[in-house]
Amino acid sequence: MSDTQVESGPSAYQKLLEDLPRTGPGTRGGEMLRRYWHPVCLSANLKDIPIAVRMLCEDLVAFRDGKGRPGLLGIHCSHRLASLEYGQVMEDGLMCSYHGWRYDTQGRCIDQPLEPRDSDLKGKIRHLWYPVEEWGGVIWTYMGPDKENPPPLLKIDVLARTDGEVKLADGDVRNYNYLNWMENFADMGHAVLLHGMVVRDLPEELKPFNDYSIKNWMPLPLEFVETDYGMKTVSVLDTGDPKVKFVNTWSIAMPTHWRFSGIRSGFPPDFTDERQEGGGMIRIIDDTHFELIRYSLLRKGNFRGSFVVGLPPDKKGTVDKKAHDKRRYSGWEGVPALEDLVLQESQGDIPDRRLEHLGTSDRGVIMMRRIWHKALEDVADGKNPKGVDRRQKGMLEVDTFHGHVKVNELKIGAENMPSSTEGRGLIRDKNGNLVFA
Ligand code: FES
Ligand SMILES: [Fe+2]
Repeated sequence: MSDTQVESGPSAYQKLLEDLPRTGPGTRGGEMLRRYWHPVCLSANLKDIPIAVRMLCEDLVAFRDGKGRPGLLGIHCSHRLASLEYGQVMEDGLMCSYHGWRYDTQGRCIDQPLEPRDSDLKGKIRHLWYPVEEWGGVIWTYMGPDKENPPPLLKIDVLARTDGEVKLADGDVRNYNYLNWMENFADMGHAVLLHGMVVRDLPEELKPFNDYSIKNWMPLPLEFVETDYGMKTVSVLDTGDPKVKFVNTWSIAMPTHWRFSGIRSGFPPDFTDERQEGGGMIRIIDDTHFELIRYSLLRKGNFRGSFVVGLPPDKKGTVDKKAHDKRRYSGWEGVPALEDLVLQESQGDIPDRRLEHLGTSDRGVIMMRRIWHKALEDVADGKNPKGVDRRQKGMLEVDTFHGHVKVNELKIGAENMPSSTEGRGLIRDKNGNLVFA
């Protein structure tokens, strides 16, 4: 068996590859995804007009009733299927504009103005609905079983932070499977190759604070660690000081969150303030569409410039469009976000993974598929998948780290990696001393 296969053997692996990208109801992938809370939209966008929103292959409508309570209903009215996207927000629910059937946030039909007063039709209707919560500037939903008693919403830590400016950005919709994105985040070798992510041109004002000359960018040395929320990737690079390593981590929280510490975090001159933590989450629309909802925390006093950049144009093509470039994305190189989009989309909307040839540098992708595989099996066995615990309440802490660590203190593991939360973390100054004690 090659290391591209999970333990259960080739046919199970083939089945897994088929099941993994599926998001609809009744599919193994979709049933797994339905054990988690998912973002629906930003709170700020849900005002006095309903919003059509497709989630996990289901066409739904989000709205706020007249009291400000958010709801999520099936988009087609139970009467004769008109779209509730054109419904009227009422004090106690959403009214279909066609014949006035009105629904509360739990799908109960509370009015049918054209029916006889003694009709019992209302009581027989239970329109499709899903529980929602509003927290951290986001409307969330749970689309799994036991809707009346869903597991607690795990609050993603960044959105609860008060030690900086939290930013949310939505609207980046992609036309391929969400796993193309997530697997990219388990595949950090690409950052050096595709994005040319190397440190160069340290600004003069920062030079007194540290020696950022990093050796051995290629191949990027990567370790992969499974965590209770998902997994993390750790790169450990040699610096100009043999006693100090430069460590970077990226985290994946199942099934749709990714996190990085930000290319500027922990940099001099003021290590305590120069922290940007970034990442985001995916709103899965269907098997071949998703929306990125990015979040980031910019701590006060950040160094706003960046000296981690892609390779210069003469080494790597140009961002200028060439007249003879007939590709869909011409002049695509030089902007990491665009580079990721182009390569992920180019894999195909649902890539045929049977045709892949995975290598050593794909260990992160393989780990991620094992984790997803286990989650699919757990759900099929009636268990909760990773990261869902009905007794658990509170934060989903997804640590990331970016900075210097003394060689003799560097241990890589799920439990002992430095965390960025609350300024903790083993960030070192140029003398190797802890910045956060
Ligand atoms: S179609 Fe909605 S009330 Fe008739
Ligand atoms: Fe990337």
